[in-house]
Amino acid sequence: MAGPAIRASGLEKRFGDVRAVQGIDIEVSEGELFGFLGPNGAGKTTTMSMLTGLSRPDAGSIVIGGIDCSRNPKAAQHLTGVVSDESNLYPELSGFDNLCFSGALYGMRREARRRRASELLDMFGLGEASSRKFSGYSKGMKRRLVIAAAIMHRPPLLFLDEPTSGIDVESSRMIRQLLSLLHREGVTIFLTTHFIGEAERLCDRIAFIAGGRIVRTDTVERLLQPVQGRHVLTVSLSGGCTVPLGDLERAFPGLDFYLPAPDELRVESGEPLKAGSLVRFLEERGVEVEEARKRVLSLEDVFVEITGIGAGSMLKEKERGRRQ
Ligand SMILES: Nc1ncnc2c1ncn2[C@@H]1O[C@H](COP(=O)(O)OP(=O)(O)OP(=O)(O)O)[C@@H](O)[C@H]1O
Ligand SMILES: [Mg+2]
Repeated sequence: MAGPAIRASGLEKRFGDVRAVQGIDIEVSEGELFGFLGPNGAGKTTTMSMLTGLSRPDAGSIVIGGIDCSRNPKAAQHLTGVVSDESNLYPELSGFDNLCFSGALYGMRREARRRRASELLDMFGLGEASSRKFSGYSKGMKRRLVIAAAIMHRPPLLFLDEPTSGIDVESSRMIRQLLSLLHREGVTIFLTTHFIGEAERLCDRIAFIAGGRIVRTDTVERLLQPVQGRHVLTVSLSGGCTVPLGDLERAFPGLDFYLPAPDELRVESGEPLKAGSLVRFLEERGVEVEEARKRVLSLEDVFVEITGIGAGSMLKEKERGRRQ
């Protein structure tokens, strides 16, 4: 492939009054594992459909591996494997025959497709089920076969729409391991997912999409910077926080206090937090503490903050603080 694996600019798509995608730019380098994250209805599937040639953009351009998709969609499609959110395989065919059929669609010769199909069935833990009908596969098995079918012709670029949603831990793990393996082999991967932890573990770079627009694209490392090593204690209060935050800040220097909701106190620190003395301090002042939970801030917090799907405004306040 010449140039970036994917270059999309100014993509737009409307469905009647719904502006599903409103001017999206994406550039993915060769060999990169790129995550596409966003809440329900953000426009992820719509974007992926356009990138894979399943639907036509209302505006914008897409270049895949140096090929202009509007001019030569077939050639671009040959470079890509697609795992959509719906299965495109034949229920009445066996796993083996489904894979061979997918290979035939990409012009693979008989012997090559049979060899590749057997190799993939083993790799995906489906060797024993290879002659069973696809319709009798479990959800996780189906998903694995759909991915195997997408990579039959060894495409240098793979698109996946939520490949691990709705399946069990073992199948999800297997899929993640396979994606890592393909990544190491140099395949460029465009991964849509809801699972932030999954994106954090697998991806080189992530684009956050909300309301049909990309709100931020960055490396996982840089996205995590504002929360790195930040510890959080969430204290649920049954009657609200009657102690002024200023009193808490004076009593516990070095800790940051926030009230994201009337009955929730959040404490942040660069050091691991101890709940005991704070809970005692609050209770001595008549505040009823229901529960105190400790955790380390993660990419999920960054996601919630950036896409605006939560009440927390800690990061914004922090950034505001830094700018001042
Ligand atoms: N074929 C369609 N006809 C009408 N509206 C559509 C169609 N496809 C998508 N939309 C709308 O476009 C918006 C974006 O949908 P899309 O499926 O791309 O979101 P998504 O990010 O993939 O969401 P999810 O996480 O639920 O899969 C939504 O408002 C959706 O209702
Ligand atoms: Mg979707």
